[in-house]
Amino acid sequence: MSHSVEIRIASDADTASKNVAEEFAKALQLKPSIVLGLATGGTPVGVYQQLVSLYQAGKISFQQCTTFNLDEYVGLGPDHPQSYRYFMQTNLFDHIDIAAGQTFVPDGVSNSIQDSCADYEEKIQSFGGIDLQLLGIGENGHIAFNEPGSDSNGRTNVVDLTENTISANSRFFESIEEVPRQAVTMGIGTILESKRIILMATGRNKAEAIARALEGEPGDDSPASFLTTRENITFVLDQDAASRLSGPTIRRTKEIL
Ligand code: PGA
Repeated sequence: MSHSVEIRIASDADTASKNVAEEFAKALQLKPSIVLGLATGGTPVGVYQQLVSLYQAGKISFQQCTTFNLDEYVGLGPDHPQSYRYFMQTNLFDHIDIAAGQTFVPDGVSNSIQDSCADYEEKIQSFGGIDLQLLGIGENGHIAFNEPGSDSNGRTNVVDLTENTISANSRFFESIEEVPRQAVTMGIGTILESKRIILMATGRNKAEAIARALEGEPGDDSPASFLTTRENITFVLDQDAASRLSGPTIRRTKEIL
């Protein structure tokens, strides 16, 4: 494993969320025009709650900032309650002072989805790239919707979801049949170009994926393992997600109380 990866282990998920939110808040204070990369799913909900509280307390403003989300389901429009655009509006954007035109989420209902993927890449570049990217991890080691086997240089594209991902995400839908089979996702190459990355994972169901990502050689069986090939990457874990790490890895972690 690359020793440039910083690992923080928190006593619980709330503490992990607070730690990540504080880092986002500091980055915003330092550079109000920051370009943030944002994630959806169960993991970042606590981070967004913290950021909304910090905004309400007058500690941070998103007025000058721009955001790019990692991914979106193919076929779900912005008004669909399970779309990632809807998730972002209801969990964060509707509660803060960010300008509507400054929040970007891949378009899952475009008529020419390949063109809109290329446009998304260009848009990120036009804002100077992503300064700080928040990531979750799948039980199978995916980052965004880059499933095992994905190209480590991949760009924003349409991908097929694996059965594991469809089943893991079915908890948000009425039934598993309603989970889209495809998504638009930033590629691993796109993600790796972010200037700083924080991967957050909580819960025992992520422990295996975390151990594989951080230990052993980077390989396409674990998309998250490619993160260890770069600088300026931090994994923020709760104790459950860290529970399968080996002694040597644990010994070089930072504890967050
Ligand atoms: P989760 O998803 O936060 O809902 O566990 C994370 C992911 O699949 O990347």
